[in-house]
Amino acid sequence: MSVTINDLRAWKAAGKRFPMLTAYDYPTARILDDAGIPVLLVGDSLGQTVLGYETTLPVTMEEMLHHTKAVTRGAGSALIVGDMPFMSYQVSTEEAIRNAGRFLKEGGAHVVKIEGSLSTLAAALTERGIPVMAHLGLTPQSVHMMGGNRVQGRGEEAAASLIDAAHQMEKSGVCAIVLEGIPADLGRRITATVSVPTIGIGAGPDCDGQVLVITDLLGLSDQEPPKFVKRYADLRQEISRAAKAFASDVQTGVFPDQGHSYS
Ligand code: KIV
Repeated sequence: MSVTINDLRAWKAAGKRFPMLTAYDYPTARILDDAGIPVLLVGDSLGQTVLGYETTLPVTMEEMLHHTKAVTRGAGSALIVGDMPFMSYQVSTEEAIRNAGRFLKEGGAHVVKIEGSLSTLAAALTERGIPVMAHLGLTPQSVHMMGGNRVQGRGEEAAASLIDAAHQMEKSGVCAIVLEGIPADLGRRITATVSVPTIGIGAGPDCDGQVLVITDLLGLSDQEPPKFVKRYADLRQEISRAAKAFASDVQTGVFPDQGHSYS
């Protein structure tokens, strides 16, 4: 059975926590889907994790669609969320609707994610049958406005403004709210007061779901990860070990042997 946005609401109502992971390609989507991860986010974090950009800002619609198509081909039953890249939804509602539609029509995604407190836009999309996931708190597309990727919502005034933004997005009909880089207590307060599921990343333990960037979880990056990341594997070391073993086998004539050759 495929996961739908109704499941997210049902899980919140039942107090059942759920995981979401980013995926950017076909094999990873297959593995994560088989592992039972119910929600896959084709995040614009692919800008840094896969494409080697410094921020998410250069990521284009074409790059996002290319990777979203690969993920939808690989995933069997997971709900696929396509992340709208910088400037694909900020210029005008018309352009945003057209671009969001492309995620569903061409990419095969089920939901689009937008950053910031854009409740009018979220309502315009949901009215047109395009489910929206909101993303509040530390929103990486606003890295320059925030003066860097800094924790948001510290202090009562900033916290109240984020709680208000979450309520506005809830009213606009979003199916879930990603909360990134905020104090754990604020994550708890927002989660307790909105009817839609919250999905935390650096937002403490009380959100309805949790999301991590897959390359962080797998230990693929050579950068020091943010505090909220838990590494579940060290694939960087494992890939390096395998590559060095292959190189050594080739150099010493161990590979290919008869077992790996045609007669
Ligand atoms: O692009 C991304 O990976 C994201 C997550 C950090 C939520 O937006």
